[in-house]
Amino acid sequence: MSRVLILNGPNLDLLGSRETEHYGHETLASIEERCRILGGELGLEVEQVQSNAEHELVETVHRAARDGTDFIIINPAAFTHTSVALRDALAATGIPFVEVHLSNIHGREAFRRHSYFSDLARGTISGLGPAVYELAIRGASGWLDARSDTRGT
Ligand code: DQA
Repeated sequence: MSRVLILNGPNLDLLGSRETEHYGHETLASIEERCRILGGELGLEVEQVQSNAEHELVETVHRAARDGTDFIIINPAAFTHTSVALRDALAATGIPFVEVHLSNIHGREAFRRHSYFSDLARGTISGLGPAVYELAIRGASGWLDARSDTRGT
């Protein structure tokens, strides 16, 4: 069974009440529950972690490499625009990942247009609200299936 880690960065624990004009009304707990159900339907083992601390996110990526995690879906939140450390952690492990954002980071303030992650990501999904997580899980599942076909496993 393939292992997928969904990693959410700072302030995403406040979803549901935080800047609802950008992030909507759904809580992180509700999004995580939907991800858990969809992952189960697609035969994936889904782990979900949210942290407000950069070092915890970095350490979670390191642990994912040790645990044999196959794919990461990450919303780095504000660290998207600042964190060389988290970028380097993903680069160091080489675990394939998709970068997601609830809001369209290209349609907001200029500082949000730059991401430290997009050029390393297998793909990016931005601006569709909580559906970005569902699309990313489906994308990860398809990518992992294609990889097993190529490897003959
Ligand atoms: C975000 C966009 C970031 O610019 C912001 O700092 C966030 C959330 C999003 O999901 O739209 O915290 O990643």
